[in-house]
Amino acid sequence: MSTAPRKLAISGASGRMGQRLVRLVRENPDFELTGALESPDSPNLGKDAGLVAGVGDIGVAVTSDFAAATAGAEAFLDFSTPDAVDENIVLAAEKKIPAIIGVTGLGEDTLGKLLAASQKIPILHAPNMSFGINLLYRTVEEIAGRLGREYDIEIIEAHHNKKKDAPSGTALAIFEKLRAARNYPEDSAKPGRVGAVGPRPRKEIGIHAVRAGAIVGDHTVLFAGPGEVIEVTHRAQSRDAFATGALKASLLMVGKAPGLYSFSDVMGF
Ligand SMILES: NC(=O)c1ccc[n+]([C@@H]2O[C@H](COP(=O)([O-])OP(=O)(O)OC[C@H]3O[C@@H](n4cnc5c(N)ncnc54)[C@H](O)[C@@H]3O)[C@@H](O)[C@H]2O)c1
Repeated sequence: MSTAPRKLAISGASGRMGQRLVRLVRENPDFELTGALESPDSPNLGKDAGLVAGVGDIGVAVTSDFAAATAGAEAFLDFSTPDAVDENIVLAAEKKIPAIIGVTGLGEDTLGKLLAASQKIPILHAPNMSFGINLLYRTVEEIAGRLGREYDIEIIEAHHNKKKDAPSGTALAIFEKLRAARNYPEDSAKPGRVGAVGPRPRKEIGIHAVRAGAIVGDHTVLFAGPGEVIEVTHRAQSRDAFATGALKASLLMVGKAPGLYSFSDVMGF
């Protein structure tokens, strides 16, 4: 028996991730785009979201009005900016729409608003919604736990030259998992190294951000010990990796109890 498609509103609809989501929704009969939210400054306001994404007319105009964009939506997917999330999450809670937040680089205030909103609606917040990266989290946690402390750990990430935050939200999430596995202090992150840094302290995890060209998102965790190196690498080849995960997350969030969820709930870990 076929079920009605899930009605989705996408925020940041004419951005890189937003367009990819619009395309995937268009191709997948399990979903229907009912709203496309954009910045009040967007040159795409009033245009058809499908035309903006290059998949033809879908009868959904890009708007900067939250109420109009979310009318009739069962879930709200936000891939816009930290400032936009700061406002949108309050409005989503008022309207009782489950929210899937993919935006990275959220400040402490906004994270607090997410927590408050999660009393009213289910919220999934994940800096990386690819299945591969979420498996990498588990794999590197296990390796870090099993290897002795004599194995140094470094994280290297690479992204396109338009990315606004560094290190990536994903690199920071990997760091947190490794730090917990090793029981290192909170300040053990070492972003980049410059100058006469001296010998490497043991309880340190280096994080290095490469910004170049059109790289979608690479993350490598390197474990270097006596006479050997283990490297675990994930490479996103297209934004479909994240968009597919976000759509899967939207299926899970509809009908869920209010609360703050993570992508491991989507993976079933
Ligand atoms: N969680 C994941 O899996 C994942 C994957 C890729 C990117 N991201 C994150 O998603 C975010 C967007 O990435 P991107 O590469 O698509 O960026 P982008 O700059 O291409 O797109 C962002 C869009 O948001 C729009 N926007 C700005 N203000 C807005 C507002 N008030 N309301 C609605 N839309 C608004 C912009 O006009 C733009 O079109 C970033 O934070 C990025 O790090 C997360």
